[in-house]
Amino acid sequence: MLNIAVLVSGGGTNLQAIIDAIRDGRIADARIVLVVSSRPDAYALSRAAAHGIPVFVAGRAAFSEAADRCAAINAALREAGADLIVLAGYMHVLEPQIIRAFAGRIINIHPSLIPKYCGRGFYGKRVHRAVLAAGERESGATVHYVDEGVDTGPVILQARVPVRADDDADSLAARVLETEHRILVQAVNRLAKEIGDGKV
Ligand code: GAR
Repeated sequence: MLNIAVLVSGGGTNLQAIIDAIRDGRIADARIVLVVSSRPDAYALSRAAAHGIPVFVAGRAAFSEAADRCAAINAALREAGADLIVLAGYMHVLEPQIIRAFAGRIINIHPSLIPKYCGRGFYGKRVHRAVLAAGERESGATVHYVDEGVDTGPVILQARVPVRADDDADSLAARVLETEHRILVQAVNRLAKEIGDGKV
């Protein structure tokens, strides 16, 4: 049984995609053992609660020192027995201590075709606004390993999405999200196999 921890900050549709894939067997022999949210008001927390998934809220306001917050997240992940960590709309850079503790077992979903429109300042709707402002004809989604840079880890899966002439950031985000949900499930399965085979 693969123990997955999902880190979120917002709506949690990618979290929901993993929950649904586990429930209907597209991801086998896995369970979500913990959802960590950087915001106490993230709707993703309601999704976790609706499915009885334990949550840990690690809002910045609750910790006076960044190091304490990092240590608390790390401890929560360890106590939950996480084998795989999925950043699913987590709007923070993960601390090096956590990346080192779970080396090769942390993945992130990003709403563009990395290396385009990624790195500091490119997150959420900002990505889609930049894609539209540049007049791109296509965008997409990327799942990659998390390393100590910002969106710099090796790409696991990528998929293209057309940009339509009448798109705004919301319509493009919605189209990209559908693709994110699909490739995130594929990537989790790929990592599950690697971890199961003892390759990680
Ligand atoms: C998704 O589009 C995800 O790729 C993006 O935030 C959205 C979260 O949606 N993540 C980033 O921009 C990280 N750099 P969700 O909460 O509905 O899964």
